[in-house]
Amino acid sequence: MLALLLIAIVLAGNADGPASSRQVNAVAASHRSNGLGAWQKVYSVMVSPRCLNCHTATNYPQQGDDRHRHVANVIRGPQDKGVVALNCSTCHQSTNADSTGLPGAHNWHLAPLSMRWQNVNDRPLSSAEVCRSVLRLLDGPHLLKHHEEEPLVLWAFNPGRRPDGTMRTLPPTTHAEFVEATRQWVKAGTPCP
Ligand code: HEC
Ligand code: HEC
Repeated sequence: MLALLLIAIVLAGNADGPASSRQVNAVAASHRSNGLGAWQKVYSVMVSPRCLNCHTATNYPQQGDDRHRHVANVIRGPQDKGVVALNCSTCHQSTNADSTGLPGAHNWHLAPLSMRWQNVNDRPLSSAEVCRSVLRLLDGPHLLKHHEEEPLVLWAFNPGRRPDGTMRTLPPTTHAEFVEATRQWVKAGTPCP
């Protein structure tokens, strides 16, 4: 009843009625498609090896562009930080150690299993799955802040040298483009495919 009344008021206030509601729909649709385009860019970074190597579905991190299992039997451990004798910070410092090829950033550890972006066969999850997954745990503004400031995210855009002295490859966008795409996606109401 109240809803009908509201619709009547809206229609009455709108001289050109259906035409302008079509316009509203068209604007909403283009808003959504811009948002989805921005999300696709965000997703392309999330499933690049620099991010995916920590967002695993298994009990170990991965290394390299082929995302092979981490050397030395390093395992996830109870808090995603390795095990007592071999936790992540035994080797990984708070900055890249380019003389040895050991990557580093503040509080280096694996993303929890609830934040995995690949399946147990190391296949990246689909764009729709990752989108729903990240929104289950953080809302748009928190995701934007995480992408802007989190040291482990920043590391992926400045990943340093491999043990053989060559540079690690970068995600498909710059950090600034990634943050901007996240901002556009959040502004569009975080639509998922
Ligand atoms: C015994 C030392 C050691 C321990 C302990 C260790 N790492 Fe590593 N890690 C390395 C070395 C060395 C490399 C560089 C290997 C390379 O790039 O080929 C590396 C690379 C990585 C990379 C690859 C980055 C990339 O994108 O190529 C990730 C991710 C990683 N470690 C996560 C972890 C996590 C998470 C832990 C704790 C659960 C951990 N590591 C514990 C030595 C260690
Ligand atoms: C060294 C490991 C590591 C790397 C590399 C890494 N992350 Fe993460 N990520 C984590 C950890 C650990 C958490 C959980 C943080 C927490 O609990 O606050 C996390 C959480 C997140 C979350 C929140 C997930 C959710 O489900 O809400 C997002 C988003 C995220 N990371 C984005 C990225 C992106 C994008 C990259 C690459 C540009 C990246 N991460 C690279 C370890 C990593």
